Parts: sequence; C-alpha cells; structure tokens
Amino acid sequence: MKSIVVKKPNELVIEEREVPQPAKGEVRVKVKLAGICGSDSHIYRGHNPFAKYPRVIGHEFFGIIDEVGEGVDRSRIGERVSIDPVISCGCCYPCSVGRPNVCSSLTVLGVHRDGGFSQYTTVPSNNAYTIPDDICDEFAVMIEPFTIAANATGHLKPTTDDIALIYGAGPMGLTSVQALKGVYQVKQVIVVDRIDERLAMAQTSGADLVINNSQLSLKDELEKRNIKPTIIIDAACHPTILSEAIAIASPAARILIMGFSSDPCQITQQGITSKELSIFSSRLNANKFPVVIEWLKKKMIDPQKLITHQFDYTQVVQAIETFEKDQKQCCKVLLTFS
Ligand code: NAI
Repeated sequence: MKSIVVKKPNELVIEEREVPQPAKGEVRVKVKLAGICGSDSHIYRGHNPFAKYPRVIGHEFFGIIDEVGEGVDRSRIGERVSIDPVISCGCCYPCSVGRPNVCSSLTVLGVHRDGGFSQYTTVPSNNAYTIPDDICDEFAVMIEPFTIAANATGHLKPTTDDIALIYGAGPMGLTSVQALKGVYQVKQVIVVDRIDERLAMAQTSGADLVINNSQLSLKDELEKRNIKPTIIIDAACHPTILSEAIAIASPAARILIMGFSSDPCQITQQGITSKELSIFSSRLNANKFPVVIEWLKKKMIDPQKLITHQFDYTQVVQAIETFEKDQKQCCKVLLTFS
C-alpha cells in the first residue's frame, strides 16, 4: 500500500508500506477520502509542537472496514465508517467526566500516531463510526471538522435569542456558522474576517452579517449598529483577539477560544468580571461524532458549502500548497484514495 509520510519537517514522501494487520480491538480501514486541515500543514512544515516524525498525517478520513482484529465482530467488515481521531484511556479524570478529548494520555491519529493519509490504516474499533447509507462519502469525511463546532457549541449552549459573533471564516468559522444557524437557529450570526472571498463563503453558510475588519474598527462597526454579541467564538485565533472580544461582548456573554498560540494576551480581571463573562475553550471533540451524524441525517448542516477542491492522493503536495497559499478560493481540500 501507499502512505503519505512526513519524514521530517518539509520532507513529505509517498512511501510503499506493508498493509497493517488490525490488533486486538481494532479495525482496518480501506481509506476512500481524507480532508486536509491546518494541522496537517503545520506538521508538514514543522510547526506542530505535538508531532513526532516520521508521521503518516491525516485525522479527517472516511473509508470501508476491510478487516477486524481479535474481539471485533466480523459483521463490521464492509461498513462505511468515519474515524474519530481522539484516542483516550477511558479512566483518567477528564475521561471520567466525559472529556476524552483532553485525556491525560491523549493520542490523536495523524499527530501522535499514524493517521489516515494512507490507502489502509488501523484504528480502535470504537473510533470507527458507522455511516448511514443516506450520508454520502463527501459528507462523511467532513464529520470531523463539524465535530469541532459541535464541541464548541456544546460548551456555549446557544439559544434562539443569542447574537453570535465569529472571528475567522476559515473551515472552523464556517462549521461554527452552520451549527449556530442550522442547528441552534441563533437569531443573528455575524462573521468577521479580513478576506472578502471568505466572508462571501460565510454568507453562503448562513451568516446574517459579515464585516471585513482589515481596514475598519470592529468595535466602531458594532457600536454603529448597536450590536452587543452574547456569544463570541474566536476561530481566527490570533492572541490579540481575546481582549477585543471581552471589550465588545454584551454583559453576561459567553466567549469561546480555540487557538493554541503560546504567545501571551493582555486581558484584565475587570474587563471580565464587570460583565460577568464566561470564557470557554474547546479542543478537538468529546464524543461528538454521533451528534454530527444526527445533524447530517436531519440536513441541519451542509458540508458541500465548504468543499472547494479534490485531488488524488498522489498530488498531495500540490493539494497542501493550494490549501496553504490560496485562502481566497480554497476552503476544504479533499484527497481521494483509489
Ligand atoms: P484558517 O487559517 O483557514 O482560517 C482563519 C481565518 O481567520 C482566516 O480566514 C483569516 O483571514 C481570519 N483571521 C485571521 N486573523 C483575523 C483577525 N484578527 N480578525 C478576523 N479574522 C482573522 O484556519 P481554520 O482551519 O479555520 O482554523 C482556525 C483556527 O482554529 C486555527 O488557529 C486552528 O489552529 C484552530 N483550530 C482549533 C481546533 C480546536 O479543536 N481547538 C481544531 C481545529 C482548528
């Protein structure tokens, strides 16, 4: 079989490897489709502090179970499955309170262990979620990015009375827009980005108002319209954003951050406590695959609106470079494995 391996930063090869045998409790997946995420490019470029090399990248993938290990029902062979990349121990404190995404010994497929950019891969059987026949392959591979929005909104508990503001109209911002409008029917969703083409995608995904903050003061624009967001999601993740979010938030608002920057940001207790703001963070997903499968079954979200490119896996370098360089035209890039 062929696997896409990042040997070390900036060295990616398509390598011939033995087809792996599933261990006890695992299934083998014949991969059909995979999605490229920012973290794949970060591992390729050497910017992911968690990655170990060499690594088969890829944590968004879909395929067919073609073999099972000991203890797994053979009837699963032939199932269409999407893979949750979060592998947890099941017994530490975070696992015991339903937060396997921050397990004390967290393993993420494609980061800490070989992932899905490969013709075949093995995963724990519990991580392989059965996809109903009425969900097409292209939507099944998009479940993982939508689980990020499911996790974030699960913390925020949006209502129809909320006015939500999302920083960033990349894949993470757009999945959040779709969740807030399609699932929670939030009254107004505002999206802020610096790229007009991305803001147009946010409108297609359901944003009620978009603001390009490259030349304007967001605070002034909101004041002009008398808008005080009750929910703010930072899906742009620049360290300066949190202090602005605190300044523009309504009293009693909820703010959620999803960035991993190690740079400090300046915030004050007074800014937070005077409005009694709640600040959440969200990492990966905690058992959200069934939630997003339900959203897809009920047609509450439309992943097609994010998919802009498909490449054969042999063109992976071109696919990653397109993803990195063309933020105006490019959102979700899929790789097909024959
Ligand atoms: P992306 O880079 O495609 O999109 C980010 C967008 O934010 C871009 O369109 C950019 O123009 C915009 N932006 C940057 N600075 C801005 C600012 N100051 N104001 C308004 N817009 C601004 O990235 P993607 O894939 O959507 O991911 C977004 C972030 O989410 C990344 O930082 C990533 O590391 C993080 N992430 C976090 C996850 C988690 O579970 N916590 C999971 C996946 C991604």
